[in-house]
Amino acid sequence: MKELLLIGIGPGHPDYLTVQAIEAMRRVDVFFFLEKAGEGKGELIRIRREILERFVPDGGYRIVTAQSPTRDASGPYRDGVEAWYRAKADLFAGLIEHELADGECGALLLWGDPSLYDGTLAILKGLLEEARVAFALEVIPGITSIQALTARHKIPLNRIGEGIQVTTARRLAATDPEQIANTVVMLDSNAAFRELAGTDLTIYWGAYLGTEDEMLVSGRLADLATDLAEQALRAKAEKGWLMDIYLLRREGPRE
Ligand SMILES: C[S@@+](CC[C@H](N)C(=O)[O-])C[C@H]1O[C@@H](n2cnc3c(N)ncnc32)[C@H](O)[C@@H]1O
Repeated sequence: MKELLLIGIGPGHPDYLTVQAIEAMRRVDVFFFLEKAGEGKGELIRIRREILERFVPDGGYRIVTAQSPTRDASGPYRDGVEAWYRAKADLFAGLIEHELADGECGALLLWGDPSLYDGTLAILKGLLEEARVAFALEVIPGITSIQALTARHKIPLNRIGEGIQVTTARRLAATDPEQIANTVVMLDSNAAFRELAGTDLTIYWGAYLGTEDEMLVSGRLADLATDLAEQALRAKAEKGWLMDIYLLRREGPRE
C-alpha cells in the first residue's frame, strides 16, 4: 500500500514545526513540491527546502516538483475554484500513481495546518472516495497563522465565553459591520479593512508572520486604517506579494 502524509509545517518559521511533523518527515521517501506561479513562489519553496535540510539532514528522500494549476479568476468564483480543484485532483492522482512506488511514503508539506483554508485534504479525500488511486492518508496538524497572529500580539483569540468567526476578505466585504465582534480575516492581501475605517473596531494585523519580513500593527481601525493600508500595499509592491491576517474586535460591553 502507498502512504501519503499531509504535514502541517506552520506559517513560516521552522521553529513552528511540531515533534510529530518532524518525526513524520523522517519516514518520507518522496516529498511533492508544488510550484505556484506568482505570489511568493520561490520563497515558499525555499522555506520548505530549509525545513528539510534542518530536520532531515541525512537526506534519504526524493523531491518531486510539479507545476501547481492556477485558478481562473475570470468567471464566477465557485466555477473557477471547482475547475481548479479538478485540475489539482488530476495532478495528485498522477503523482501518486507514477511517482510513488508501492510500500513508499509520500508527503506534502502544507502551510500552517492542513485543515484551514487549504483544499488539498478535500481533494485527496475526493480521490479516495472515487477510488481513482489507492493510498493510506494521514494528516499531521500544524500551527495555524491564527495562532501565530494571537501569539505575536499576545492576545487571547476570544474573550470570556465569546464566539470566534473566521472568514475571508471576500466574505468580509459582504458582512454587516455591526455584526463583527470577534472576527479573524484571512486571504486578503488587498487591505479590505479599509472599508471599515468608519467603525469602532480594533484591528490586530500581522503580515509574513514568523519570517524575517514579519510586520505587526494593532490599534483602533478608525485611527490607523489609512496608514496601515498604505504600509501593507507598499510591502506588497516591494516584495511582489502579501500574506496577511488580522483579527477585528469590538471593544466595550458585550452580551
Ligand atoms: C491558503 S491560506 C492557508 C492557511 C494555512 N493553512 C494556516 O493554517 O494558516 C493562506 C492565508 O493564511 C494566512 N497566512 C498564512 N501564513 C501566514 C503568515 N505567515 N503571515 C500572515 N498570514 C498568513 C493569510 O491570510 C493567507 O492569505
